[in-house]
Amino acid sequence: MNLFDVYPLFPINIVEGKGCKVYDSEGTEYLDLYGGHAVVSVGHSHPKYVKAISNQVAKLGFYSNSVINTLQSELAEKLGKASGYEDYSLFLINSGAEANENALKLASFHNGRKKVISFKKSFHGRTSAAVKVTDIPKYIAPVNEGLEVTFVEMNDIDAVYNELSKLDVSSVIIEGIQGIGGIYTPDNQFMQKLRAICTETGTVLILDEIQSGYGRSGKFFAHQHAGIKPDIITVAKGICNGFPMAGVLISQEFKAIYGQLGTTFGGNQLGCAGAIAVLEIMKEEQLIENAGKVGDFLISELKKLPGIKEVRGLGLMIGMEFEQPVKEIRSELLFEQKVFTGVAGTHIIRLLPPLSLSMEEAQEFLIRFKKCF
Ligand SMILES: Cc1ncc(COP(=O)(O)O)c(C=O)c1O
Repeated sequence: MNLFDVYPLFPINIVEGKGCKVYDSEGTEYLDLYGGHAVVSVGHSHPKYVKAISNQVAKLGFYSNSVINTLQSELAEKLGKASGYEDYSLFLINSGAEANENALKLASFHNGRKKVISFKKSFHGRTSAAVKVTDIPKYIAPVNEGLEVTFVEMNDIDAVYNELSKLDVSSVIIEGIQGIGGIYTPDNQFMQKLRAICTETGTVLILDEIQSGYGRSGKFFAHQHAGIKPDIITVAKGICNGFPMAGVLISQEFKAIYGQLGTTFGGNQLGCAGAIAVLEIMKEEQLIENAGKVGDFLISELKKLPGIKEVRGLGLMIGMEFEQPVKEIRSELLFEQKVFTGVAGTHIIRLLPPLSLSMEEAQEFLIRFKKCF
């Protein structure tokens, strides 16, 4: 059987990782400024994480959501404390798209409305409702067409108000910082007004923190820079350092009803053990503070470099936009300088390293990067 060929691949076989470095099958070392797409949060093969996962799988990898799972409660308690959302509830699933799917559903169950507002350049996943609120038409199959979605410009509060004042919008979904769209952070003032008009019109505010959350921006959630509290928050990627897991954080205004949401694999013992270890490591190693500090350093140094049109982002979620397509620079970085980075579209390089990236590693990246353009 062949693999279904949907990913353009680099001819590199990564077989090992340690901290912010990965190694291919030939033993070549690469600096990882990509984190496997913002997923590896506490660093590759962190010993505490490896121990937690190994011990748990040796004891019990999985049992269904029909029995008490104290690891889920421990994770919810620790996540509440770490994020400042102790009064919210947690629903666990397996991927970011699934988190958004459940968030949109929950909002609609709650207020009985059908329409959704999303933003231009947004990305929320590739499943049914999640892909329909994504502003990339070529990802939407005819079978996904059902949901009624209006895309408005980010930061255009009048356009949002115009839609919400019709009182038929179930939810507004917005990324804490747009990732795949090119690293665009919504203005704080816009976020505060958005919060207010969602409350005024009975619309559920969903914050997709799948890429921008879990400490990446220098705060637990990117929206916390604006000082607001959404009704629902979705998380995935960094939550379990690469083990597939995701969560929906749900405010007290929502009533849990048996059967409305559910999953076979979500919240399994193995994932919970890994996710608990991730939160403990983040606290012990002060990784959120590190993301803020190293991210500020990188952003200010990158802004000094001639040849980059714009540097955007917060913490360790950084976008560098160039006048020219970035394909060559990225190839040079990878194949000559041995540095993994990401892209957004054709003209933007994205940096999404593990939150444990050290100042020395950031400096090393800058040295290698400057050789590429
Ligand atoms: C902001 C955002 N939302 C949702 C998703 C979808 O997550 P997943 O690929 O785990 O379904 C992504 C993935 O890149 C994302 O960046």
